[in-house]
Amino acid sequence: FADKYLQNQHWVITAGPTREAIDPVRYISNHSSGKMGYAIAHAALRAGAKVTLISGPVDIAAPTGCELIQVISAEQMHKQALTYAPQATTFVACAAVADYRVADIASEKIKKDSDVMQISLIKNHDIVADVAQLAQKPFIVGFAAETQNVEQYARGKLMRKNLDLIAANDVAKAGQGFNSNDNALTVFSAIDKIEIPLANKHIVAKQLVSLINQHYLLKHTR
Ligand code: C5P
Repeated sequence: FADKYLQNQHWVITAGPTREAIDPVRYISNHSSGKMGYAIAHAALRAGAKVTLISGPVDIAAPTGCELIQVISAEQMHKQALTYAPQATTFVACAAVADYRVADIASEKIKKDSDVMQISLIKNHDIVADVAQLAQKPFIVGFAAETQNVEQYARGKLMRKNLDLIAANDVAKAGQGFNSNDNALTVFSAIDKIEIPLANKHIVAKQLVSLINQHYLLKHTR
């Protein structure tokens, strides 16, 4: 079946935001909706792949047929990603992982006694970069949400994190990216630059999945 072109592949996809607890009732997070990652999971499933979706807390339903691993924090997502990635053919890091976590999570609700308060933060592990360090590593795709110098920053991340592809979007442009139903991507490999024009995230995801597979095949038939 030509439409089931991913039949022998296993995709592991991270999606959504992470939440970093401050105390039992509060957290630090971001506006990621999970829509792009879930759309990629859906498109990969439709193309016949086995899909493991490692997701932070989102309001949308996981596509039927995927293996859903729900996590809250970046540390939990890191642990699950490193558990599932070694068996995968393809790893897509679509999650908006919190860059920092709270150094000392309060065990009781913090009271508003003082006028000023400080929270110390510690940098989280870079999940996609750590997957790229695995001895047995899948084909790795990262994302880069930028507000300026998109190509320069995206190419920097591609090289520094040792990725095979990076999908960049300009989050400063209206009507695309974070929380929107639409997106436009510029996908970079070490040598290529491919534009996926502004469209519904499901249409963009279908094109991206096909593009990832083309580059995966190129790498494995060399
Ligand atoms: O460095 P930056 O956060 O912009 O990189 C974005 C890419 O790295 C995305 O693919 C994101 O999922 C991934 N990432 C990650 N773990 C982090 C931070 C980012 O996997 N702690």
